[in-house]
Amino acid sequence: MLYEIQTNDWHNVYSNEVQSAAVQAFESGKILLLPQLTFQLLEHEKIFFSTEFSHPRFKNISYNPSKDALRGTTCQAEHYDKLKKMLARYFLAANTLMNQLFPAYQHAIQAGRTSFRPIEIKGRVPKSFRKDDTRLHVDAFPMSPTQGKRIIRIFTNINPQGKARVWRVGEPFRDVARQFLPQVRKPWPGRSFWLKTLGLTKSYCTKYDYTMLQIHNQMKADLKYQKNALQTEICFVPNTSWIVSTDSVSHAAMAGQYAFEQTFYLPVSAMKVPQFSPLRILEALTGHVLV
Ligand code: SIN
Ligand code: FE
Repeated sequence: MLYEIQTNDWHNVYSNEVQSAAVQAFESGKILLLPQLTFQLLEHEKIFFSTEFSHPRFKNISYNPSKDALRGTTCQAEHYDKLKKMLARYFLAANTLMNQLFPAYQHAIQAGRTSFRPIEIKGRVPKSFRKDDTRLHVDAFPMSPTQGKRIIRIFTNINPQGKARVWRVGEPFRDVARQFLPQVRKPWPGRSFWLKTLGLTKSYCTKYDYTMLQIHNQMKADLKYQKNALQTEICFVPNTSWIVSTDSVSHAAMAGQYAFEQTFYLPVSAMKVPQFSPLRILEALTGHVLV
């Protein structure tokens, strides 16, 4: 389930052997664990080991690199600037690591948002079961269709009190899909057109996005599945990082506070083995083109 990569440097250069082994492990659904890779806060950033800068309506503080702007924080003026610079540093570090480890993806990969996660997961009250990330799920976002692109995320636990970030990791995507595809209902006619026209999705919601969202929701709604599905607890101790394709690796975040995360999107065509993608797996299982 885990594949370890030894480095303590975001700028590390990897041999061809390490690069191909990493791609192979990653695409086949393993979590890449970098047990010595941390992200050090600068002295003046340590004030952000606090929950007071989080906007109560948001789970995370996020940084949009294309707009150079933050969301989810109450910070103003110089604090805002400090916080933004901290997230921008993580963005750069994560991008460097990605390019060094996966040069084959470099021409096609797109960076998404960066997030800082100062809120303790355990005890957090989600607005609905669909937003409850303590339930096993594969990532699919109602407003942000990926149109088949992979969702790749880098996490770093920087908890200063020694607290692990605790995940449950479930069964392989093929098994998840086999279990939940029979329950996927047909969308109402014109759904994608209207969602896009009304501004409820940022881009057109393809059959793939619809199916993934249904699987995400069905998984979270099924309490028997949550309890009985094959699963393993993983404790990501502080000062470690991990890279995971959250659209195919079934996961639930159970506890932990203070982490960074960077999202990337990768077209399936850039993968070494596109057949491992949720898009190709769902197309094979349904017999339909989904994008
Ligand atoms: C998630 O993607 O479900 C949350 C992961 C985390 O915050 O550790
Ligand atoms: Fe998730």
